[in-house]
Amino acid sequence: MVVITDPVREQLHAVWAAVAPSWGEHAGAIDIRGAGVTRAMFDAVDLARGDQVLELAAGPGSVGLTAAEVVGPGGSVVVSDIEPQMVAITAERAQRRGLANVTTRVLDLEHIECPAASFDIVFCRDGLMLVPDPAAAVREVHRVLRPGGRAAFAVWAERRHNTWLGALLDAVTAELGVAIPPPGMPGPFSLAEPGVLEELLRAAAFAEVTGRDVETPLHVRSFDEWWSVVPALAGPLASLLESLPAEMTTAIRTSAQADLATFAGADGYDLPGMSVVATGRRRSTT
Ligand SMILES: C[S@@+](CC[C@H](N)C(=O)[O-])C[C@H]1O[C@@H](n2cnc3c(N)ncnc32)[C@H](O)[C@@H]1O
Repeated sequence: MVVITDPVREQLHAVWAAVAPSWGEHAGAIDIRGAGVTRAMFDAVDLARGDQVLELAAGPGSVGLTAAEVVGPGGSVVVSDIEPQMVAITAERAQRRGLANVTTRVLDLEHIECPAASFDIVFCRDGLMLVPDPAAAVREVHRVLRPGGRAAFAVWAERRHNTWLGALLDAVTAELGVAIPPPGMPGPFSLAEPGVLEELLRAAAFAEVTGRDVETPLHVRSFDEWWSVVPALAGPLASLLESLPAEMTTAIRTSAQADLATFAGADGYDLPGMSVVATGRRRSTT
């Protein structure tokens, strides 16, 4: 396969290799937490039996494995990610569920090594904002869709609507005194501003572009549960936190705990979260 490599991309890809085991460990919880967004993506593209589907930047494959059940034996789903360990996790999950219509591949979202017009539907949940050139990635998605085919993308909405993750970024930034992610680097909120995702789709020649917000709150039973899960999954931050001296990590933890205290209730913490789901159709004549 062809992967575009340069030092920035190598670094961006490597952080996902480091957290892949945690994504495998928490795959079931990731399926449940993302179910509302997955449903919104399916509705946006009218996913149906027999569809030929590609999922990009799939992590442990929540969207693609669920889609495989919808498209049935007459359809097919290619579930892909840049990180081979993520792909292996998905392959194992597909096998365990007996999903014979799923294949897995290592694919780069910025350079999709598939022929033009290969798929009816393309999904990408929480991946597009992580690449250096999301406009090129959306053009690639457009290219691999058949005329009339549809894509659905999900990205995180603005940080102020995503306390579940923003609290960690704020605490790290406060302790280190530097912006996380650094200016110019892609990150979870790179495409969060209202209308940006939809504009990327229009610029790539998609028609019938629509976008909507989908609430994605995170419930955890305790602060300790939040601390054990969120930093372990947060690609670039996981390695950074591991590399810090213990007293700095403790300060970050204390600061995040104070920040999240407002959301504590009798049965744990209900932390706000919000995604943007956008869809578009490749014109029948292009
Ligand atoms: C935040 S996780 C989202 C995983 C999954 N889509 C989900 O919603 O649960 C981001 C995923 O994007 C993958 N990724 C990062 N850069 C990529 C690229 N250039 N091409 C394909 N996948 C990429 C990472 O390996 C990781 O699995």
